Amino acid sequence: MQKEIDKAAVLIEALPYIQKFRNEIVVIKFGGSAMEDKELIKKTMRDIVFMECVGMKPVVVHGGGKAISARLKELDIPTNFINGLRYTCEKTIEVVDDVLHNVVNADLINAVKDAGGTGKSLSGKKFLKAEKVTTKCLETGKELDLGFVGNIIDVDTEGIKQALNKDILPVIPPLAIDNEGNTYNINADIAACQIAKALKARKLVFLSDVPGILRDQNDEESVISTITVDEVDDLIKRNIISGGMAPKIKSAEEALLAGTNKVHIIDGRIKHSLMLEIFTDRGIGTEIVKKR
Ligand code: ARG
Repeated sequence: MQKEIDKAAVLIEALPYIQKFRNEIVVIKFGGSAMEDKELIKKTMRDIVFMECVGMKPVVVHGGGKAISARLKELDIPTNFINGLRYTCEKTIEVVDDVLHNVVNADLINAVKDAGGTGKSLSGKKFLKAEKVTTKCLETGKELDLGFVGNIIDVDTEGIKQALNKDILPVIPPLAIDNEGNTYNINADIAACQIAKALKARKLVFLSDVPGILRDQNDEESVISTITVDEVDDLIKRNIISGGMAPKIKSAEEALLAGTNKVHIIDGRIKHSLMLEIFTDRGIGTEIVKKR
């Protein structure tokens, strides 16, 4: 009997969060190795359908790095990275466009459907405006071309909100178009951040391959549960936060400054990490807040 009663406690613990986050926009960046695993994709999308069903307005922005790399390899298109960014030539952007829409996005939409929800691919090509970016050579400081790699300069929030108002779950691949109609590849962390800012999302959640921000890089158990922006800056200065985390942290700070209430970094490899973070008091990953 106690076991059954304990089950009710789980639901009761969720109640204040269901109440607080009702009708609030939550942008979820889905990336990392959780996306390589069909079962994890299904479970994650089911959690997101659950969030939607209890009144939140989730918006999914997804990556697709590994699937893209695999396709490029199949097609014998070499991949060059400059300062950690993929040089995106005309052939590459075509592949990125195809794989993101027709493979990765399609799988996510199907998983939403299997979970009883209604998802819709809102292509970044329709809803996001891009501007080309370059990077600086670390030695000479010279601008280096990255091909079709862009930043987001505008988000069609009305279009996204229309879907949300119809209880449709938007699933957005991180591509965008410039004024001349060229397609650009956008870093998915940055895309999620810009979308969260534009939509004035209450929350921004990064599902990735780390348990959260770690106090000790070599100890996966040393997750920092709650951290403020100032404390994060201090950890960066002291080199405690590693380079790979940088785009997420920068995006987190930007979103918080623009009015997002909390940014969460959680481990997408753990089943139901999203449910555990959103619907329990202690969560499972790191929450970044402006002030304590
Ligand atoms: N469920 C609550 C929220 O989403 C609390 C999360 C706490 N998470 C944490 N990593 N300390 O706001």
